[in-house]
Amino acid sequence: HHDKLALPVGTTLDRFIMRKQEDFPYATGELSQLLRDIALAAKIVNREINRSGLIDIAGAYGNRNVQGEDQQKLDVIANVRFIRALRNGGEVCTIVSEEEEGMIQTGNVKGKYVVAIDPLDGSSNIDVNVSIGTVFSIYRRISPTGSAGNEQDCLQRGTHQVAAGYVIYGSSTMLVYTTGNGVNGFTYENSLGEFVLSHPTIMTPATGTIYSVNEGIARHYGAGMAAVVAYFKEQEFSARYIGSLVADFHRNLLKGGIYMYPATSKTPTGKLRLLYECNALAFIVEQAGGKASNGHQRTLEIQPQSLHERCPFFVGSSELVGKAEELLAAAE
Ligand code: AHG
Ligand code: MN
Ligand code: MN
Ligand code: MN
Repeated sequence: HHDKLALPVGTTLDRFIMRKQEDFPYATGELSQLLRDIALAAKIVNREINRSGLIDIAGAYGNRNVQGEDQQKLDVIANVRFIRALRNGGEVCTIVSEEEEGMIQTGNVKGKYVVAIDPLDGSSNIDVNVSIGTVFSIYRRISPTGSAGNEQDCLQRGTHQVAAGYVIYGSSTMLVYTTGNGVNGFTYENSLGEFVLSHPTIMTPATGTIYSVNEGIARHYGAGMAAVVAYFKEQEFSARYIGSLVADFHRNLLKGGIYMYPATSKTPTGKLRLLYECNALAFIVEQAGGKASNGHQRTLEIQPQSLHERCPFFVGSSELVGKAEELLAAAE
């Protein structure tokens, strides 16, 4: 039996997952297999993204998803790739995806897990070679195995996640995930075709000097949100906004800062989706010592009502999210 020592930088993701599993003598290895399936799909999607300028897979797909957004071809390709990997892997009974209105039944009725996924995050950045991502949440099903998963399995509070992570396809490609025991980041080594541990036990700074928000829509903010932005300007914070949630989140996680997608007069519940965007990042940021809320309630404690519901999102360094909550409450 191996010691529960931190594994060294350079450990491959497969080995890392295997070693972690050995820390839980009764673990069956199904979650480990599921994480490996996601990593495999991530490699395939990474390949498609890298060459998207060369083959005809950039641009619009010519269809609108349940969110009313124009799907990009890579949204559809990434969706297909992740669903296929999860179906073939066999551990997942049901998937909720940004790109499909209903629950996706994999046919693996014995699968113990449910996955919520944003297959391709940052659609508007695909065609201009700016970082994009994938976000995933994993839950244990509530319903007994032997039949398809149901809505109750999919609409669990974020506190029930057994694992969550994201992939960032950036200047390098990384996979960052947690199983509730700290956050670890792996960088993709192209020539080896492996994710390699590069960021062990990520902790986010308690405070920072970056704020990330779409200020072009500031005229639609309420008084509270206007006060929040005014405060960060008064403090002379740096404004950094990529427009890919995963990339904005990842930068702030490492450097310290706050990301905000508030409620606006046009979008009273904000834009981001609770199940496959906010909850995963909320789990990760808390595991890294940070904070996530909808402005007044901890994101992970929100009881989801529907598969594609949206919520305002304030995430990042604990002091900064706390400050935003304070200013929002004062304006009520
Ligand atoms: P997606 O590409 O998965 O639909 O997500 C888009 C989201 C998120 O990535 C990003 O942070 C946000 O939309 C940007 O919205 P605005 O353009 O309104 O700022
Ligand atoms: Mn979209
Ligand atoms: Mn997204
Ligand atoms: Mn998406």
